Amino acid sequence: MTGNNRGTSLEVLLQEDRRFPPPDAFRRSAWAKDENIYERAARDPKGFWENWAKELDWFQPWKKVLDWKPPHAKWFIDGKINACVNCVDRHVFSNTGHRARRNKAAIIWEGEPGDTRTLTYWDLYREVNRFANVLKKLGVKKDDRVAIYLPMVPELMIACLSCARIGAIHSVVFGGFSAEALRDRINDAQAKLLITADFGWRRGQQIQLKKAADEALENTPSIENAVVVKRGGFQDTAPQFQWKAERDHWWHELMEQAGAYAEPEQNDAEDMLFILYTSGTTGKPKGIVHTTGGYLTGVYATTKWVFDLKDEDVYWCTADIGWITGHSYVIYGPLANGAAVFIYEGAPDWPAKDRLWRLIEKYGITIFYTAPTAIRAFMKWGREWIEKSNLSSLRLLGSVGEPINPEAWMWYQENIGKGKCPVVDTWWQTETGSIMITPLPGITVTKPGSATRAFPGIEAEVLDEKGGRIEAGGGCVAITKPWPSMLRTIYKDDERYVKTYWSKWNKSIYFPGDGVKRDEEGYFWFTGRVDDVIKLSGHRIGAAEVESALVDYPAVAEAAVVGKTHEIKGQAIVAFVTLKEGKKGSPELVNELKAHVVKKIGAIARPEEILFSADLPKTRSGKIMRRLLRDIAEGKALGDTTTLADPAVVEHLKAQYEEVEG
Ligand code: WT7
Repeated sequence: MTGNNRGTSLEVLLQEDRRFPPPDAFRRSAWAKDENIYERAARDPKGFWENWAKELDWFQPWKKVLDWKPPHAKWFIDGKINACVNCVDRHVFSNTGHRARRNKAAIIWEGEPGDTRTLTYWDLYREVNRFANVLKKLGVKKDDRVAIYLPMVPELMIACLSCARIGAIHSVVFGGFSAEALRDRINDAQAKLLITADFGWRRGQQIQLKKAADEALENTPSIENAVVVKRGGFQDTAPQFQWKAERDHWWHELMEQAGAYAEPEQNDAEDMLFILYTSGTTGKPKGIVHTTGGYLTGVYATTKWVFDLKDEDVYWCTADIGWITGHSYVIYGPLANGAAVFIYEGAPDWPAKDRLWRLIEKYGITIFYTAPTAIRAFMKWGREWIEKSNLSSLRLLGSVGEPINPEAWMWYQENIGKGKCPVVDTWWQTETGSIMITPLPGITVTKPGSATRAFPGIEAEVLDEKGGRIEAGGGCVAITKPWPSMLRTIYKDDERYVKTYWSKWNKSIYFPGDGVKRDEEGYFWFTGRVDDVIKLSGHRIGAAEVESALVDYPAVAEAAVVGKTHEIKGQAIVAFVTLKEGKKGSPELVNELKAHVVKKIGAIARPEEILFSADLPKTRSGKIMRRLLRDIAEGKALGDTTTLADPAVVEHLKAQYEEVEG
C-alpha cells in the first residue's frame, strides 16, 4: 500500500490517545445530539434519507426513494425539484413554510484588494433571475453545458445557481487551470457558453483569465458565446485580452437588459446538476456527474449536522468553487440551509500572513472549514500572525482534502479554536458529493488525526484486497450501500465509471481508492491514496496526467511521476524523465519542463523535482514500476525488485537521486 504518511506512521497514529468529547454547551444546542440517530439510520437508511429530502422544497414528490441496479442508482424517482429554488427562492418567500430570510446576508464577499460586497437573499434572488434570463437569451437551454472559469467572486455563485434555475448543467473549471486544461474540459463537455472574467486577483497580481480563455476558445467549436465579468477596479491597466464582438459580452451589460423574473425549471430529481472534472489514474480527467435531488439532499443534511449550521452563523469554507468542496460546501449545502456564506477571493498571506484571521475578526466568522495544507502553513508562519486578531467568534472548525496529522489537528484546535471549538475532520471525495466519514460535533468524541466514523445513513467498511472485512487494522475503505449524493456516472464514459469505482470487489461495493486503518473503537484513520493519484495541497493530480504533459515535450522520451511526502503540501510531485537520443539534461531543461507542465495543466501540477535518467525501472512486460520510484523519492529502502527486467537500473537511479538530494 502506498500513501501519504508524512512521518506519521500508522503505529504512531494508533497510539494517539487524546480524546475530545463535545463541550457540554455545544452538545446541548446541537442539531444532532442523540447518539441513537446512527442506529436508527442504519436500520432504515432509505427512510433516513427520505426524511432529509422532505426538508427540501419539491414541485412534485417522489414515487420511490431508491432504484438500485448496481452500480447504477437513482434516488427520489419521479420527484421534481430545482436546486436554485431550494438555495434562494425558499428563503425569500415565507409562503414556502420556511422562515423568511429575505433580508439576511446570503453572500458576504471580500476581494483580495479589500473591496467588499454583500448580497442578501433578496439580492441573490434578483441576480439569479436576471442571469437566468441572460443565459436563455444567449440560447442556453435545459441540459446544455455551461463552462465557468472565474475567480472567487459572487458572480461565480450566481452563475452556478442560474444554470440550475433553467436546468442547464454547469462545469466549473478552477481558475488555476491552464488554457489547455480549460479547452479540454470545454470540449469533453461540449459546452455551449463560457463564463469568465477579465482577471482575478492573487497575491497582488492580476490572473489573466480572459487571456487564457481566448487561447482556449481558439479550439472549442461548441462554444457560441462568452460572458465576461468585469472584475476590474484598482490599478486599471491596459487589457491583455482580445474582444470578439460577435462572441464576447460583458456580464454587467447583459444584466442591465435582462428581465427580472425567470420561471424555475421543474427538473427531475435525476437530471444532471453539474459536471466536475477530477483526476484519475489515466492521463484524461474524469467528468464526474452529479444529479439534482439526491445531491441536494446529501449536501443539505451533512452541512446541517456536520457544521451544526444555525441561522445566526457566519460560515466560511475556504475552498475555491472550482473544486467539489466549493460546490457542496460553499454553494449548495450552506445556501440550501439559508446560511450567511462568506467568500474571499485571494491568497491567505496577502498582503500579510494574518489576512484570514483579520477576516474572521472583521466578519465575525463562526464556522471555519479549511485544508490540512493550509493549517500546516499557518503553523509554520507562527502564532504571532494569529495573536493580533480576536478569533472568539469561532465555534466550530473543519478540515478536509487530505489526511490531517495529529500535530496539525492539535495545533488547529489549540491555536485557532482556543481549545473550545470542536474540530471535524471530514473525509469525502468529488465522487461522493457530500461528506461521508466525519465526527458529528455534538455527539462524537474526537481523536486528533481521525475522521472518526461514517455519517448516519452511510455504510463504510475496511476491506482487504479480496474483499474480506477488517474489523480492526489496515485496508481499503469501501462504501457498501448507495447514498443519495453519489456520482451517477462519468460523463460520456460509463464504462470507466463501472471499471474505476465498482470493480475492485463486486459491483455493489464502491471503491474510493483510499487506504485506511480502523482502531478498536471502529474509528477510521485515513492514510492516503492507494492508486497513482497525488494529493497536492488537498488537490488531486493524476501521475499519468503529469507524465503525458512531460512526454508532450519534444526532448522527452519517457516519464514516470510519483508523489513524495511534503511537510506542508502533504505530497509533492517528483518526475523521473528519460530523454531522446542525443538530448542532454540540464538545469535549464528542468525549468523548461516545469514550465511545460504548468502550460499543459496549470501551476498546481508543477513538479517539485525532475531527475533525468538513462532508464526507468520496468517489469519484464515493460510496465514502469512507480512503487520503486516512490521508494527512491522517499529515500526508503528499495522494495522487492525481483520482477524488474534490469535491477541495476533502479540501484543506479537511487544512487543518482541521493546525490542530487545531497
Ligand atoms: C480525496 C478526494 C472532498 C473534498 C476535497 C478533496 C482525500 C479528502 C480527506 C480527509 C483524509 C482525505 C482522499 C480522497 N481526502 N478528505 N478528511 N482525510 N483524506 O476532494 O479532490 O475529490 O479528493 O482526498 O484521498 O480520496 P477530491
